[in-house]
Amino acid sequence: MSGLRAVITGTGSYAPSRIMTNDDFAAYLETNDTWIRERTGIRERRIAAEGEATSDLAVEAANKALESAGLAPSDIDGILLATATPDILFPSTACLVQARLGATRAFAFDLNAVCSGFVYAMTVAKSLVETGAAARLLVIGSEVMSRSLDWSDRGTAILFGDGAGAVVVEASTVVSRGLGSFRLGADGRHWEMIHTPGGGSRRTEEPATIRMKGGETFKMAVRQLQESVLEVLKLEGISPADISLLVPHQANIRIIDALAARLGLAPERIMVNIDRYGNTSAASIPVALDEAVRGGRVQEGDRILLTAFGAGVTWGSGVLTWEAHRQKRSRM
Ligand code: COA
Repeated sequence: MSGLRAVITGTGSYAPSRIMTNDDFAAYLETNDTWIRERTGIRERRIAAEGEATSDLAVEAANKALESAGLAPSDIDGILLATATPDILFPSTACLVQARLGATRAFAFDLNAVCSGFVYAMTVAKSLVETGAAARLLVIGSEVMSRSLDWSDRGTAILFGDGAGAVVVEASTVVSRGLGSFRLGADGRHWEMIHTPGGGSRRTEEPATIRMKGGETFKMAVRQLQESVLEVLKLEGISPADISLLVPHQANIRIIDALAARLGLAPERIMVNIDRYGNTSAASIPVALDEAVRGGRVQEGDRILLTAFGAGVTWGSGVLTWEAHRQKRSRM
């Protein structure tokens, strides 16, 4: 062990200004507000403006995270951007963000684990920081899901939204807590469960819009999230009772409720904002975390549990202990 500990020192988030309500879907699809609210927990979602892309959202969120960490872009050693909806196929959206921020010293790459992307990226960030490979990282989840939707498919179009969240992860020699155990998983045999047929090198004639087996995805998500959470709690040597706040990927309120019931967590210990954003894929956890921090729901010493499941299929969970890091930088 290097003696270095990875800690979050700033958070930020951004969502496009345009709100699309359930009634907006009901105006042209065979669906209604009651069905969507009861089956998913979603009331509205944000939709990127024409010409607004994943990097635009990411830059806004990253600037807020840098500001809350008290850092300048030039302080950053690396940018990890979790996204399944890059601006263009290549170069990476992270490189576009690096240029826009003026993070001239930073390496930059995208990471695609779809809805699990942010937990994957945090796991990589922890490793980079704790091995001494980088001291200050921006970890971003940013998605414009609205460009990957089949707007005529009521089973998927109503679920997703656009947004971005970011955190600054720094190395500390004095903080003993910060990012704890993280564990990831994948089972590529189920790649067809949620996928976009086109958009890559395999089937260029197919549309690059989401196809999903909703019922199967729902059941697997509930089972896999529970397993993943229990695995990481065991690794950390704690029980659900030790968790102050669960910040889960926001895919469906019924998936979150099933997980909370299994863990015995009361509603005040679960961060939920799916009602306002829908499923923003890799952005959902950092947006929810930022809202929890800014909303005063996170206190010094709180144990926070992150967990996600997504296309791949992929999953991952992580435990972190919150500290008022910024004031401690002088001692880091
Ligand atoms: N409005 C009204 N009816 C709808 C609808 C909508 N927006 N979407 C689907 N339905 C209909 C279906 O067509 C189906 O009708 P049928 O029985 O006549 O065929 C009926 O509702 C029930 O469909 P079902 O798929 O069983 O509903 P559900 O309770 O599973 O809810 C989802 C559908 C998509 C909300 C749910 O399966 C889900 O959230 N799955 C997981 C999605 C997810 O998490 N994806 C991302 C993972 S990161």
